[in-house]
Amino acid sequence: MDFASTAVALSLALVLATFVVRHHARRLCGKEKRYHPVAGTVVHQLINFHRLHHYMTELSCKYKTYRMLDLSRSAVYTADPANVEYVLKTNFTNYGKGSYLYNILSDALGDGIFAVDGQKWRHQRKASSSEFSAKLSRIQKITYR
Ligand SMILES: *[C@@H]1O[C@H](CO)[C@@H](O)[C@H](O)[C@H]1NC(C)=O
Repeated sequence: MDFASTAVALSLALVLATFVVRHHARRLCGKEKRYHPVAGTVVHQLINFHRLHHYMTELSCKYKTYRMLDLSRSAVYTADPANVEYVLKTNFTNYGKGSYLYNILSDALGDGIFAVDGQKWRHQRKASSSEFSAKLSRIQKITYR
C-alpha cells in the first residue's frame, strides 16, 4: 500500500469515526431529535379512504405513535395513553392548535374552545365548565326529587 492510499484510508476511517462518535454523543446527551416512525403518507390515507378508520386503527395497533406525511408537514397520531396524558395534561401548553387549525376551524366554530389556544382557550374552558356544572346540578335536582 503506498502513502496516498494509506492517507485516504486513514482519512475515511477518521471521518467515519467522527460520525460514529457524534451520533453516540448526541444520543447520550439527549440532543438528537427523535421522531416517531413514518407509517404512511396522505396518499396512503387516500388509497384507504373507503376504510380509513380501519386503516388508522391498524397503524395504531402496529406503531402506537406514528407520523403521516403530506407534502409540507407531518401529523403525529397516537394511541398510547402515556402520550395522550402528556399532550392533554402534563405539557398541554406545548400542544396548541396553532394558526393553521385556527384558520380552518374559526370559520365554523368562531373563537370557541375547539378553535382557540392560550388565554382565549382558558376563558372558554372556564365558561363551558361553569355552564356544564350548572346543567349537571339541574339534572341532579330533577333526578333526586
Ligand atoms: C414541557 O415542555 C417544556 C418545553 O418543551 C420542557 O422544557 C419541559 O420539561 C416539559 N415538561 C414536562 C413535565 O415534561
